[in-house]
Amino acid sequence: MQFCCFGHCKDVEADTDLTAVVVKFAFSLCFPLFFFLTVLFPFLTPIFELLNIWMFPKSVINFFTKSVKRMKESRLKDKQKHRVDLLQLMINSQNSKETDTHKALSDLELVAQSVIFIFAGYEPTSTSLSFLVYELATHPDVQQKLQEEIDATFPNKAPPTYDALVQMEYLDMVLNETLRLYPIAGRLERVCKRDVEISGVLIPKGTVVMVPTFTLHRDLDLWPEPEEFHPER
Ligand code: HEM
Repeated sequence: MQFCCFGHCKDVEADTDLTAVVVKFAFSLCFPLFFFLTVLFPFLTPIFELLNIWMFPKSVINFFTKSVKRMKESRLKDKQKHRVDLLQLMINSQNSKETDTHKALSDLELVAQSVIFIFAGYEPTSTSLSFLVYELATHPDVQQKLQEEIDATFPNKAPPTYDALVQMEYLDMVLNETLRLYPIAGRLERVCKRDVEISGVLIPKGTVVMVPTFTLHRDLDLWPEPEEFHPER
């Protein structure tokens, strides 16, 4: 993922192992506590800032700030406009003529987006794969069927390709059923941008609409035997 976000970057590798930093980031003792305090009580943020308390460890933030800054400088020097990765797209948008009509990202926002991208990419993927492997281990029949599909799609241990992967129907069913039982975001939220009426319910502009993903995914009216793992459903 490091490559699709930032391409090949010697600065990141020379400094430290990115995975080690992400692990430190996610498992730091202060992360869960301040993460939940900041999410549940956002008005406390200025107080934490005054007390010099940060949701993420300072060393991790410094690492990302320094690395992204160096990568940006190096790309601006090399004029590597041909790259298509997240970092390059953000750098291009900062220098785009369209900043007359749109506010350009600041350097700090660029670092923040990079951190979110790395975190949002690592954590949901590893968590979802862990649940998927758990379900396969506890449902040998599903595992067997999936194994057969894999062997039929990639005979003689042929290397996987994107085009072949998207044709794998049973794999899709297994993944969907895993995400139904263990949705990575237990609830989703959207802010209403204008007054709107849906099925007779008026939602005024500015309302936060919450989608209770976890509850919907286990609703008995929608899913028979909702607690069961049935990829065929
Ligand atoms: C099994 C893999 C993944 C799952 C289940 C997953 C799930 C999700 C969900 C549920 C959201 C919230 C969407 C919403 O609010 O409507 C989200 C947001 C996001 N995901 Fe993923 N994701 C996965 C992999 C990835 C990967 C590989 C990347 C990047 C390389 C990524 C980048 C993001 C970003 C940037 C956001 C937006 C975060 C924000 O708005 O703050 N995700 N993902």
